[in-house]
Amino acid sequence: MENSKKRNDYSDSRFAVAPMIDWTDRHCRTFHRQFTRHALLYTEMVVADAAIHGNRERILGFAEDEHPVALQLGGSDPAKLAEAARVGEAMGYQEINLNVGCPSDRVQSGTFGACLMQTPGVVAACVHAMKQAVALPVTVKCRIGVDDQDTEVALDDLAGAVFQTGANALWVHARKAWLKGLSPKENRDIPPLDYDRVYRLKRQNPNQFIGINGGIQTLDEAVKHLNHVDGVMLGRAAYQNSMLLLDVDTRIYGDDGASASIGAIIDHMCDYADAHIVRGGRLSHITRHMVGMFHGAAGARRWRQILSTEANQANATSAVIRRAFEAIQTTPAEEAA
Ligand SMILES: Cc1cc2nc3c(=O)[nH]c(=O)nc-3n(C[C@H](O)[C@H](O)[C@H](O)COP(=O)(O)O)c2cc1C
Repeated sequence: MENSKKRNDYSDSRFAVAPMIDWTDRHCRTFHRQFTRHALLYTEMVVADAAIHGNRERILGFAEDEHPVALQLGGSDPAKLAEAARVGEAMGYQEINLNVGCPSDRVQSGTFGACLMQTPGVVAACVHAMKQAVALPVTVKCRIGVDDQDTEVALDDLAGAVFQTGANALWVHARKAWLKGLSPKENRDIPPLDYDRVYRLKRQNPNQFIGINGGIQTLDEAVKHLNHVDGVMLGRAAYQNSMLLLDVDTRIYGDDGASASIGAIIDHMCDYADAHIVRGGRLSHITRHMVGMFHGAAGARRWRQILSTEANQANATSAVIRRAFEAIQTTPAEEAA
């Protein structure tokens, strides 16, 4: 598939795959890119200190043909975030995003992530410093509130602070985070979704880019959200059922250019996997992101089984992917899961 170009206009970011730690690494993004030229792909969250002091190639390295890719940073120190944003810009990312939504204990102990919903002034200082440091779009991903905050007030305050400093977009996970008592996983499911709250924010800020996230399962739902907000961001559905990304370019971007064939995606991932193995990597680094590719299709169980067992063996090569794909091609349609 033709490489995506870097973007100049944030309004092209109508569809994004969410930042997901341990999931949206460079191999995952390369895989997702085979389905859609246009979707904006986010990195996992990278803590500012790691971006500044860590092994840059290992933590931040990516390939040109993953673009458009946004780097998500975690932190609450404006100077460090500015420095980390500079590093991201130099590495070639096309957007820097600040995480104001992650509720894990580890993140809270560093006083960043979702607990920053309580200190919009700190978020504003961070965004300001990042904007000063780079020429790229600087964006924020947040919740509608935390704990017993009134979401009408908390989200307005956060959005006001963020946009006042010139942030280019606010992506809102449309549920609260509870900082005590819920695990990060529970915090993605238990607090109720409130899409209307995000729609209201958009109505109050007609000239700002506001994207919605949380619980969106299908492109039909995504298209409906786009009647109310500027962008939609899918996390788990995109990862667990990557095939839905195949229609993003036509349905969300009106780009009728031929979408990739499944065979071409498999071929590309086989070549990519073998090149990774030649460099000393393991097949499973790549195939672990592909397990959901045939979600619900005939042969999907066998596909999953082959990828999750054989790909872990030492010396596994792309032949495993081809064997798994054969199971898809040879299973009669009536056996669909
Ligand atoms: C495994 C996993 C890791 C996540 N890591 C991050 C992260 O690094 N940064 C972030 O802002 N959100 C993170 N999230 C939250 C997602 O970006 C998203 O907001 C959330 O899953 C809700 O969207 P969904 O219902 O479409 O999955 C993570 C979610 C999952 C499932």
